[in-house]
Amino acid sequence: MHQPPDNGTFRRVLGHLPTGVVVVTASSAGVPHGLAIGSFTSVSLDPPLIGFFPAKTSRSWPAIEAAGRFCVNVLDEDQQDLSARFAARDGDRFAGVTWRRSPSGSPILAGVHAWIDCVLDEVTGYGDHWFVSARVTALGVERGHGPLVFYQGGYARLVSGDPVSGGPAG
Ligand SMILES: Cc1cc2nc3c(=O)[nH]c(=O)nc-3n(C[C@H](O)[C@H](O)[C@H](O)COP(=O)(O)O)c2cc1C
Repeated sequence: MHQPPDNGTFRRVLGHLPTGVVVVTASSAGVPHGLAIGSFTSVSLDPPLIGFFPAKTSRSWPAIEAAGRFCVNVLDEDQQDLSARFAARDGDRFAGVTWRRSPSGSPILAGVHAWIDCVLDEVTGYGDHWFVSARVTALGVERGHGPLVFYQGGYARLVSGDPVSGGPAG
């Protein structure tokens, strides 16, 4: 019988996998909502689906789910402040933040690396998180800088900002 890992060990070991950082935003009854997410991933090419895992305790997710459409803002390497702001428990996350509306009407934050507009597909519970899948309806790249990277509980950036050569895409 294996003992389940304690929370600290789970976080520390899983923290060795670097992730990008996105802010998932939506407009619900004219009010902007958003939260920082590191568990974002592409899911399917045909149909085009993405997914991420918000905690069941998230205070923002119910409003975003109710909106039924949202925008995934891929943060740029110089946007650590936005990551911290959209993960903070207190404060108006959009105060002083410049943003425009995506085709779906969701906030695209100024200076993001890329954005992905989505319509909600399915929400499934896994442990203490939801898995959210969504269909991509519009998307674009905004900046030529590198993306923000989260690694071992801190922020990192790609050294060159360029993909390493020799990947499957050549
Ligand atoms: C880099 C980074 C990645 C995060 N990834 C996730 C995630 O994948 N899922 C999640 O539920 N929270 C994640 N969080 C934490 C949420 O942003 C944080 O709990 C936030 O306060 C939730 O706000 P809400 O209660 O308004 O939804 C992450 C935070 C940071 C800084």
